[in-house]
Amino acid sequence: APQHIPVLCIDGPTASGKGTVAALLAQRLGYHFLDSGAMYRIAALAALRAGLTIAEVHEARIAELARQLPVRFEGARVLLGADDVSDAIRTEDAGMNASRVSALPAVRQALVALQHGFRRLPGLVADGRDMGTVIFPDAPLKVFLTASAQQRAERRYNQLISKGFCANIADLRADLEARDARDSTRSVAPMQPAQDALLLDNSHLTIEQTVEQVLAWWQERQPFA
Ligand code: DC
Repeated sequence: APQHIPVLCIDGPTASGKGTVAALLAQRLGYHFLDSGAMYRIAALAALRAGLTIAEVHEARIAELARQLPVRFEGARVLLGADDVSDAIRTEDAGMNASRVSALPAVRQALVALQHGFRRLPGLVADGRDMGTVIFPDAPLKVFLTASAQQRAERRYNQLISKGFCANIADLRADLEARDARDSTRSVAPMQPAQDALLLDNSHLTIEQTVEQVLAWWQERQPFA
């Protein structure tokens, strides 16, 4: 692994703001950005489109698909083959399917090389659940970003409404608690802070304050920042 290339890991539960925070950090630092959740969302979509069931019976076949996923990230757009799937992978259903597919060990394994490929100069900000624990264990800074379930449900609600989707806060909260439970209890790479992760509860912080805190930590640790 190109261990001289710095990686800043942002892990945490759904709707903790980590996607927004990680993208902003990448922008500020001029680093590459890995949205690993998108990989699982795309793998789930590809599996369903291939007529597969997201379950153990089809684990090997989904892993095969995931290993050769024809995915490209072009700015904010995500392409699967020639198809723009940017919107299709962002629905609540797509998130739930991603969570299911991500519980299949062979699928996780199949996506490792793809994720490692994002580690390029001058550096990488990696957003996910297991960036610090499994994918980039040697990263110089690992942040585990959380917020209360109610805060996260409200954020997700505002996100969906602003995109013109219908939403209900109580349903969203129940869904994200179910997803957290599955993501934290699966046998392989469960969502948990790395031993050397710094915990940041941003329930009462703005996005900007959150970004500032992480940048301050990054500067403390990076001789080349
Ligand atoms: O961050 P997200 O909501 O886009 O992630 C969707 C699902 O993918 C999430 O519920 C669990 C899974 N996931 C994972 O298992 N490991 C990652 N590094 C990122 C996401």
